Amino acid sequence: MIYSEKVMEHFANPRNVGEIENADGVGEVGNAKCGDIMKMYLKIDGGIITDVKFKTFGCGAAVATSSMATELIKGKPVEDALKLTNKAVVEALDGLPTVKLHCSVLAEQAIKAALTDYYKRQGIDPEPIVGKVPDREASCGI
Ligand code: FES
Repeated sequence: MIYSEKVMEHFANPRNVGEIENADGVGEVGNAKCGDIMKMYLKIDGGIITDVKFKTFGCGAAVATSSMATELIKGKPVEDALKLTNKAVVEALDGLPTVKLHCSVLAEQAIKAALTDYYKRQGIDPEPIVGKVPDREASCGI
């Protein structure tokens, strides 16, 4: 299996690993295909994602995609994070081997789950904004 240099680099050196105390949104999802788990923490101020951290029990591709996904949404408006797709994350990493594409779904779903939590905490129905976030058992994208 061939990984791009960017994937290897983000795997060896993942950005934004950890957790945020007093996060404004926390999401946890699982990958139905492999059982791996991803937890995402967001700090949101005035509609801007000021900080983001993740923790995972996941494979190298899940670590690399989450690292890249956090870099793509940090400092950005919530609307940008809502639009982030696993495809965009994979492209930013110069691709993933086909058999590892399902791993990139974890990052996108974890961000959506964290945003769902963020809206719920404010008493806003998240579903019209975020859409339906699959539960842990059904979160595999393929
Ligand atoms: Fe499970 Fe990659 S093999 S997320």
